[in-house]
Amino acid sequence: MHYTPADKDHGLPHDPFKAIVAPRPIGWISSLDKDGRLNLAPYSFFNAISDHPHIVMFSSYGEKDSAANIEATGEFVCSLATWDLREAMNHSSAPYPHGVSEAEKAGLAMAESRVVKPPRVAAAPTALECRLLKTDRIAGLDGQWSGNIVVFGEVVSIYVDDAFIRDGRFDLAAARPIARCGYRDYAVVTGLFEMVRPEL
Ligand SMILES: Cc1cc2nc3c(=O)[nH]c(=O)nc-3n(C[C@H](O)[C@H](O)[C@H](O)COP(=O)(O)O)c2cc1C
Repeated sequence: MHYTPADKDHGLPHDPFKAIVAPRPIGWISSLDKDGRLNLAPYSFFNAISDHPHIVMFSSYGEKDSAANIEATGEFVCSLATWDLREAMNHSSAPYPHGVSEAEKAGLAMAESRVVKPPRVAAAPTALECRLLKTDRIAGLDGQWSGNIVVFGEVVSIYVDDAFIRDGRFDLAAARPIARCGYRDYAVVTGLFEMVRPEL
């Protein structure tokens, strides 16, 4: 089959786009508002986009608390969502009013970050402390704002739980990160395989 996203002519109950661009890593974003109130929410339109320097991005559909806080304060933290933390991660996506701490509601302990003010999820095996580079209210081909706000941040400090360092590497399979797929589906990383790039 072929379909045209704008025409929604896939003939299926749901557009499979998000099941195709999958699995997507989850940035579990903590931020503070101007008054220092904590906010935590998962974003799966999230990824690293540069290694030199380390740059990450996430995309918010609509003016949500995370993007608003980050525009106001310039800082955020991306904690790794894992199999063990899956219920709390999901709970933290609930649409609580501004100023209510999703972390508290989800029963999550937070830990102080090293260089930025927002804390990280204490039980997450790793977390990226970020400073805002820019936000982009991205337009579609029609030139109209799509409703999406893309937040770009440079990673200024990285926390890794030493228990997940094995043989000099971050043991991703032991951390068991979860990733978002389409529909209500998630994937969990339990195994890895290695390939070496060809040299010409
Ligand atoms: C696994 C998962 C991934 C999500 N990814 C996104 C996303 O990429 N963009 C988005 O706008 N909302 C996403 N959401 C929904 C937000 O987490 C939800 O709207 C949340 O209430 C936003 O919180 P905030 O207003 O505190 O930022 C996701 C929810 C879940 C459970």
